[in-house]
Amino acid sequence: MQNDTSGHDWWHVERVRTLALVIGKKENANLFIVELAALLHDVADWKLNESEEKGKNEIIDILRNNSIDKEKSTHITSIIDGLSFKGAGVETSMDTIEGKVVQDADRLDAIGAIGIARAFAYGGNKKRLMYDPAVLPVFHASFEEYKNSKGPTINHFYEKLLLLKNLMNTDSAKSMAKNRHKFMEKYLNEFNKEISGLS
Ligand code: ADP
Ligand code: NI
Repeated sequence: MQNDTSGHDWWHVERVRTLALVIGKKENANLFIVELAALLHDVADWKLNESEEKGKNEIIDILRNNSIDKEKSTHITSIIDGLSFKGAGVETSMDTIEGKVVQDADRLDAIGAIGIARAFAYGGNKKRLMYDPAVLPVFHASFEEYKNSKGPTINHFYEKLLLLKNLMNTDSAKSMAKNRHKFMEKYLNEFNKEISGLS
């Protein structure tokens, strides 16, 4: 992740780790599981690997080489498996409090000031247009559809980022998401005004 320029660099991982520990403490989660799942959460991400299988095996190897017992290891890999957003119409729920905490932390890093920066970094990395009024945002009903979409970056706000506030699992994350959400709305408002020559 060291040299990633798609918004999934090491500092994303570090921010998710920090957020997950802050939220995890408030939610009385097992902080060992939370921290390790946060650190490893993007190793197998479908956006960063040619094969998800290869990424998953890498995680299993890291856990095994560090003598993490089977129970913890299974818990951590199941959290990582269920973490990713897969389209507005696709259910991605978490079974354990540790999973809920890490998912919230990852989703918080996708919104607010940092979320805006990451979305445009991702778009540039994938050679997407920043804005194209001819392409409307899409409600993705399946992961396949979400994965294959190539819309302009500004659409991603309507297809994912503005939906995250209502998908937070824990009360602590819900309250942090409110602030970040408001900031994105303000930003989009200004973006649209500038496009229309009104600001
Ligand atoms: P998730 O686990 O939900 O996939 P990640 O932390 O791995 O979340 O990163 C998702 C982030 O990548 C988004 O929040 C956004 O910043 C960026 N991203 C993903 N898809 C797009 C897209 N189509 N356009 C712009 N940014 C995107
Ligand atoms: Ni992530």
